[in-house]
Amino acid sequence: MLRSRILSTGMYVPPLRVTNHDLSKLMDTSDEWIRQRTGIEQRFWVEGNESTSDLALKASELAIERAGIQKSEIEMIILATLSPDHEFPGTACFLQKKLGIPGIPALDVRQQCTGFIYSMAIADQFIRNGVYRNALIVGAEIHSKGLEKSDRGRDVTVLFGDGAGAVVLGAVEVKDPKKDSFLLSTHLHADGTFAEELWTPAPGTGNSKDRVGASELEQGLHWPRMNGKTVFMHAVKRMPEALNEGLKANKLSPADIDLFVFHQANLRINDMIAKQFGIPEEKVFNTIQKFANTTAATIPIGLDEAVRAGKLKKGMLVASAAFGSGFTWGSAIYRF
Ligand code: COA
Repeated sequence: MLRSRILSTGMYVPPLRVTNHDLSKLMDTSDEWIRQRTGIEQRFWVEGNESTSDLALKASELAIERAGIQKSEIEMIILATLSPDHEFPGTACFLQKKLGIPGIPALDVRQQCTGFIYSMAIADQFIRNGVYRNALIVGAEIHSKGLEKSDRGRDVTVLFGDGAGAVVLGAVEVKDPKKDSFLLSTHLHADGTFAEELWTPAPGTGNSKDRVGASELEQGLHWPRMNGKTVFMHAVKRMPEALNEGLKANKLSPADIDLFVFHQANLRINDMIAKQFGIPEEKVFNTIQKFANTTAATIPIGLDEAVRAGKLKKGMLVASAAFGSGFTWGSAIYRF
């Protein structure tokens, strides 16, 4: 049977390390508060003119090189981001230009923290139907240019970091589903009832007369807003649900999974899920301490870091789950 599998991973974070102490000089916060509530110790921010597609390019070039293919063999680009280079066109088009592979489809996915799982699911459909052989999937974010670095924005600002992660998904003829590396399943969900619990209202046609005018700027509608407690409550419910759905669909138990690479929103969320499923600590690969929440990039960054750390090896069964703005959530189960 024709299926897709992860051929390679790549990641990039900008060099500027910003510690919790650094943030406490910009706003009323503390290392203790951030660590205790979230597990975050530091994050990386861009300096100067780097754009989201610049970070995506660096992660993509690594992934393509490690896949052992030429750029020209990529047949589709999917880029998930909530922090695009520009309002339009999509950031996948800017990435495509920088990669120098015109002509192939380039698609932006706007599912925030679940963006990478949505992207995997989309690419998988094209690959398993025989339409494309190799797809480049990227999660990339520059949050630092869109965060309110003041007391008013502190609840959101301390949570996010910049970074990009990429994988090349390639076609594979699966002969032994119990042993071969391939993407077993994805499960996707959304509930727009909660769209305004974590969002950036402006610019947008949902505002008054102008997509962004003096009034929107004055109200700070161009900064992200979050009802943290509601997000937390739903995350600890929806991520386990999606994970269970994936395990059940493949007749697997949590003990069958070799490594869990979850979205990184809050260490407490992931600890609660691990406890609920009886997953030993060493099977959950967390990176939030180092990179904070890089939204669409957390899962591919996690995969690449796990490979480099020797924790993720070929043939291991991996489960990912994510939850985020939208609300959106989902899971993916794959043999790496
Ligand atoms: N530094 C210090 N104090 C802060 C702060 C900061 N950066 N941000 C908020 N506070 C204050 C608040 O003003 C509030 O003060 P008050 O009680 O005087 O009104 C207090 O801290 C809230 O603390 P607490 O109730 O302990 O917060 P919490 O347990 O809900 O934790 C989050 C806050 C944001 C860490 C938590 O809600 C969370 O992780 N939510 C999910 C967020 C998320 O995952 N977002 C991304 C989705 S993908």
